[in-house]
Amino acid sequence: TTTPVGIHDLSFATTHYALDHAVLAQRLGVDRDKFYLGIGQEKMSVAAADEDIVTIAAAAAKPILERHGTDNIRTVLLATETGVDQSKAAALYLHSLIGLPNAARVVELKQACYGGTAGLQFAAGLIARDPSQRVLVIAADIAKYELDTPGEPTQGAAAVAMLVTADPAILALDPVSGLYSADIMDFWRPNYRTEAIVDGKTSVNAYQKAAQEAWTDYRRQGGRELGEFAAFCYHQPFTKMAYKAHRHLLESQGHTADTDAIEAAIGATTTYNRTVGNSYTASLYLGLASLLDHGDDLTGKALAMISYGSGSVAEFFSGTVQSGYREHLRTEANLAAISSRELLGYERYRELHEATSPSDGAYHAMVEETRRPYRLAAVSGHKRIYESR
Ligand code: CAA
Repeated sequence: TTTPVGIHDLSFATTHYALDHAVLAQRLGVDRDKFYLGIGQEKMSVAAADEDIVTIAAAAAKPILERHGTDNIRTVLLATETGVDQSKAAALYLHSLIGLPNAARVVELKQACYGGTAGLQFAAGLIARDPSQRVLVIAADIAKYELDTPGEPTQGAAAVAMLVTADPAILALDPVSGLYSADIMDFWRPNYRTEAIVDGKTSVNAYQKAAQEAWTDYRRQGGRELGEFAAFCYHQPFTKMAYKAHRHLLESQGHTADTDAIEAAIGATTTYNRTVGNSYTASLYLGLASLLDHGDDLTGKALAMISYGSGSVAEFFSGTVQSGYREHLRTEANLAAISSRELLGYERYRELHEATSPSDGAYHAMVEETRRPYRLAAVSGHKRIYESR
């Protein structure tokens, strides 16, 4: 038998601010239930002027290092599609802030919202080679669409950090995975833009097709049957998307898509996303945290994980929840990260959205706003300067 590999610890962080969708609905002149019920989003996390993916990634990772130390963390993989530099890996900016080991390889990964899953799978591969190694995987994103567009209510932000090890305390991954990649233009962000471009309806259809194709491949590879899973954890660009994709998957397999059964399979995975919004690479793992924090006892149960990154790559994988997992959860800290956000008024939200990064090389101090553990203090000489608070 091979040593089980998987998620040993999981911690998330989000931004200082949040915007209630009722505020956005009023501005856009639509019924707020279009957002609350139609897309299933009530609030979205919004970054303060002195926050970015590095500050939220550091805040997510720090508690993991505090609990488990840094021994044998020989690889750090940070997945993001809202990186702060085209060359240097974002995790190197937080290296000194949170005390990552020097004897480690530190790399940034990108494939839209799929990048976090790439990190998790690469980590599992490294640990299979040497089970004494531990890998820190961080997924961090700030989702930003153009103002006054259909994508705007699906913004959000969060970072999830996971310690991936042999004999994990939370979720042991099955070695089998289903894969599907296809070159399409459903959502992308050219280098010269800070906001994503999206073909909304195409992206929804592409997501559903990719999830189904990844499932088909998962079965071809000898994966479990649909009926074996206690819950289905989907990437959530908005929470309704998980419901849509699951209904599509069930119907494509000739199952009846009973509303109560879908709620039982998905509901607990959406609690955090509903109030955080899309966190791209982190979203699937925020869904997992939500399920573990809010679901019934899942000891010994199989979970399905469905990752989708536009462009596009999908992966259907699975795992078994470990006995005693509840002692390792961070439910209280997770709930506090969400409830401690400061609610924004529309004007300040818009100002933050429209603000641009300094690019002239001069010294720019950032307004002190966030009350989170780390902040971007200044940009000077084209260098980003971070500090602990
Ligand atoms: N009360 C209740 N429900 C209402 C309502 C009301 N008053 N008004 C409208 N609704 C419902 C609609 O009936 C609809 O429900 P269904 O989907 O079940 O039909 C829902 O609210 C949304 O309404 P629309 O379809 O009219 O919404 P829209 O066209 O304005 O926006 C969207 C939808 C195009 C998906 C938009 O949110 C968007 O562009 N999002 C960004 C792209 C995205 O998230 N794509 C997802 C797949 S890609 C991916 O997953 C990668 C990633 O992270 C980006």
